[in-house]
Amino acid sequence: MKVDIVLKDKRKYLDLLLLADEQEDMIAKYLERGELFALYEGDLKGICVVTKEEEDIYELKNIAIYEIYQGQGYGKKLVEYIFEYYRDRCKTMYVGTGDSPNIISFYISCGFYISHRIENFFIDNYDHPMFECGKQLVDMIYLRKDFENVKND
Ligand SMILES: CC(C)(COP(=O)(O)OP(=O)(O)OC[C@H]1O[C@@H](n2cnc3c(N)ncnc32)[C@H](O)[C@@H]1OP(=O)(O)O)[C@@H](O)C(=O)NCCC(=O)NCCS
Repeated sequence: MKVDIVLKDKRKYLDLLLLADEQEDMIAKYLERGELFALYEGDLKGICVVTKEEEDIYELKNIAIYEIYQGQGYGKKLVEYIFEYYRDRCKTMYVGTGDSPNIISFYISCGFYISHRIENFFIDNYDHPMFECGKQLVDMIYLRKDFENVKND
């Protein structure tokens, strides 16, 4: 397994990015300022994008594994990779998601815990109603991971 950090032509991964965030103009808000990680084992399995929000606050903005490779541990490996990558400079990493028990279980199994919610986020920010497992997404649920060993130099 290897993880590449992609610095240019990030739109090349739009098919994957759209799996996690189905509105392209919302992806555009974070793609260029974010760091994109691409996980390969032989071929490309998935990607994630992380942005810096404040001095030691980061946010996992998008994570997607190709459908045929889901449920095989790649998503968790990618999260483990970015936790290690940001460990020294990150105090807290956030991730926001719709109120979808499956996705929330995934993040909790990766070490995040539920932090707060932004009411009506999906109604206010997306141009069409979105559904997950037949349920309309309304609020954004934020989860967080706190790191203990931030260097203060
Ligand atoms: C969410 C996603 C990134 C997870 O990646 P994955 O490679 O399928 O997940 P993994 O195989 O690494 O699973 C890791 C853990 O999460 C759990 N998990 C993964 N998908 C789950 C699901 N749909 N429901 C419940 N638990 C799930 C697994 O059971 C596993 O738990 P364990 O380590 O205790 O065994 C992937 O399914 C995906 O790309 N989905 C479409 C895009 C998307 O919705 N992205 C998130 C937007 S907020």
